[in-house]
Amino acid sequence: EQTGKSGYEHFMLKEIHEQPTALRQCLSGRLDPLEGDVIVEELSDLDTPGAVQFVACGTSYHAALYGAMRFREVGIPAQAFLASEYATAPPPIADDELVVGVTQSGETADTLSALRTAQGRGAETLAVTNVVGSTASRECDHVMYIRSGPEIGVAATKTFSSQLVSLSLFVESVTSNTGSGRTRALVESLRDVAGDVQSVLDDSEGEIEELVDELGGSDAYFFIGRGYNAPVALEGALKFKEITYEHAEGFPAGELKHGPLALITDETPVFAVVTGDDEAARKTLGNIKEVQARGAPVVAVTDGVLEVERFADEVLRVPETDGNLGSLLANVQLQLVAYEMAASLGRPIDKPRNLAKSVTVE
Ligand code: G6P
Repeated sequence: EQTGKSGYEHFMLKEIHEQPTALRQCLSGRLDPLEGDVIVEELSDLDTPGAVQFVACGTSYHAALYGAMRFREVGIPAQAFLASEYATAPPPIADDELVVGVTQSGETADTLSALRTAQGRGAETLAVTNVVGSTASRECDHVMYIRSGPEIGVAATKTFSSQLVSLSLFVESVTSNTGSGRTRALVESLRDVAGDVQSVLDDSEGEIEELVDELGGSDAYFFIGRGYNAPVALEGALKFKEITYEHAEGFPAGELKHGPLALITDETPVFAVVTGDDEAARKTLGNIKEVQARGAPVVAVTDGVLEVERFADEVLRVPETDGNLGSLLANVQLQLVAYEMAASLGRPIDKPRNLAKSVTVE
């Protein structure tokens, strides 16, 4: 088993470090920088959908939230559903609606059940998956592979990053924006994304261990972000609780004042994900001030475009990028935070108690 870990102490850490390679594999042959276009061969027979419903569980659900947001940004109505809820209370499906299952394994029972429900109602389906020949890949009308390579650690890491990139490719490829400014900018930033992840990995050594020393033993850990960073806040908290067994909660930053603020004290560090300089970033800055005023230590995960440093106790930097890929980079920092905290507590990182890599019962 030690050989399989290529010298890393855990599969999870190995897989975090494999992300640049996984992303290059995911993008291979799918970008045309000359034309400023994206080509996903598997999806060439897919028409532009009138609307999109995503179904997924766990980490894949967070990727689905991101995917739905990207579709809405290009004017296509899209929503992400937790697969377990979808099958219980299925929403209406329009004639030109596509139902997309996001599932690393392609075997999650809740996701398969939601996809079957959609198919039973006549919907066209797509699986976005990592596993060739998986049940989802066989049962759906279309399949797009995220090409991460095998993921052994129960906590999903590299597959989440590859899902975000795959969903970005998916949106562009079915909306044929060839050469448009937006697609060109995305293609440019996708070309750099593997290198950007590498620089996050190279630069954060030591820094995160210190942070973990400082914040360990707190009562609870909160994660906030808005817009594309909201799914990252959810994912940051999920990863953290899965492997550290510490209490962690993530929510869209605007929800702070509707309840969670009651829990904020000087014993509850808040990780705030802030990238770019848009309204979402500026409003998150307001939320940072709110929690700081109540004594919470704030860790800003940021590209520094908006000067959040002044209002944060600690800063984890990510490179500046376009196309909402800053969220992906910020998530890599949060993976490392969860990993280092779990390691400092001596947790069985690759096999957390009560959890399975793939849940094949509903
Ligand atoms: C399990 C795993 C999670 C994963 C979820 C969905 O709960 O522990 O890490 O996100 O299943 O898995 P899928 O294979 O459908 O992406």
